[in-house]
Amino acid sequence: MSVTVKSAKEIEYMREAGRLLEIVHDELAKMIKPGISTLDIDREGEKMIRSFGCVPNFLNYNGYPASICVSVNDEVVHGIPKKNRILKEGDIVSLDAGLIYHGFHSDAARTHGVGRISPEAQKLIDVTRESFFKGIEFARADHHLHEISSAIGNYAESFGYGVVRDMVGHGIGKALHEDPQIPNFPQKRRGIRLVPGMTLAIEPMIDAGTYEIEWLDDDWTVVTADGSLSAHYENTILITDGAPEILTLSK
Ligand code: MF3
Ligand code: CO
Repeated sequence: MSVTVKSAKEIEYMREAGRLLEIVHDELAKMIKPGISTLDIDREGEKMIRSFGCVPNFLNYNGYPASICVSVNDEVVHGIPKKNRILKEGDIVSLDAGLIYHGFHSDAARTHGVGRISPEAQKLIDVTRESFFKGIEFARADHHLHEISSAIGNYAESFGYGVVRDMVGHGIGKALHEDPQIPNFPQKRRGIRLVPGMTLAIEPMIDAGTYEIEWLDDDWTVVTADGSLSAHYENTILITDGAPEILTLSK
């Protein structure tokens, strides 16, 4: 598939998909406390998405069994929500969520601390978020895609963190995953030239230790190979004539 450039009308739908997803994330963030289960988060997220008349895009995607990916501590992404997985003080938890509004997808992820967390864990969360912002400084028309990749990767690696290599960001629109793929570390090639109207999901996945990851036997949950903590931060953005518009983050 080739990279799509959205029309003005399509951008309006993408904006609304993003705005509603931001609300979902803000509400889910308030739930994060010791004692709740990862399934509680999924149930609440799905309920909210449907209350907006939207569809959770992760549910049944390649067989994924839930609406919100909930990944705890050394789980990098795609954790499957479970009734008996109870969050406890000191955990970190990554929530990845998405929805479809009028046929258009949004996708965003945040990592939260549960109660009081260690300074090391907080730093990993903060650097992961900041790496996204370093990356999107280059998300401008006439820049090349991999300038974003280098900025994210170089920033995160300057803290000694491992930047996940086996999973990447992506174009987004009428499909959850469109071209191009967006790596989070420097590339030999420059990547495509960016054009206003492209919508991209940029999503650094950063490990406190090695970048190597493994898949659990549930075929979904991705964990760090060395058991170190991992954080995830993602927004859906729009390339414009000027600074990028972050569709899933307004403040
Ligand atoms: N944000 C993830 C992605 O971009 C979530 C999709 S995985 C799913 O790939 F299977 F759960 F949908
Ligand atoms: Co994504």
